[in-house]
Amino acid sequence: MTHPLSVTLADADATLVLGRELGRAAQAGQVIALVGELGAGKTTLTRGLVRGLGYEGEVTSPTFSLVQEYLGGSLEVFHFDFYRVEDEHELLDLGWDDYLERGGLVIVEWPSLYPDLLPRNTRWLKLSHEGEGRLVVDLESPFKG
Ligand SMILES: Nc1ncnc2c1ncn2[C@@H]1O[C@H](COP(=O)(O)OP(=O)(O)OP(=O)(O)O)[C@@H](O)[C@H]1O
Ligand SMILES: [Mg+2]
Repeated sequence: MTHPLSVTLADADATLVLGRELGRAAQAGQVIALVGELGAGKTTLTRGLVRGLGYEGEVTSPTFSLVQEYLGGSLEVFHFDFYRVEDEHELLDLGWDDYLERGGLVIVEWPSLYPDLLPRNTRWLKLSHEGEGRLVVDLESPFKG
């Protein structure tokens, strides 16, 4: 990675702004894995990403399904939260591989629960609490070579 990200986000609006920037730069078929403890800002960053792609509706965490789809922006966005997934089979049965092939942007909260499902070229970002705000950094992929 030439320029790994390392940014302090003073408040939730800053998280949204960064999300929008990442959204505008997103490529078809890209996967972004959002690591971070409870309340670290993963869903907020996702909201910014989705908005950055031009989708103006509401953006919330997947609750009744394991994936939330945002269609109608310049890229389709598929937002997964692995926290509520029982096992890998549940994701595979849901069509995980098809989602990866759809040429949209795939965003995953709690990716470390099933890291083997994520493609090698996934961008891993980590959010953490820093004072009242948050810090976001690029993580090295857990896969070597
Ligand atoms: N940079 C920031 N500074 C301060 N608060 C923030 C920042 N970014 C987001 N927040 C706030 O943190 C809270 C939790 O955010 P969010 O729901 O996005 O976290 P999450 O990582 O998705 O949590 P979960 O693990 O429960 O899914 C929200 O109230 C949000 O507004
Ligand atoms: Mg969340």
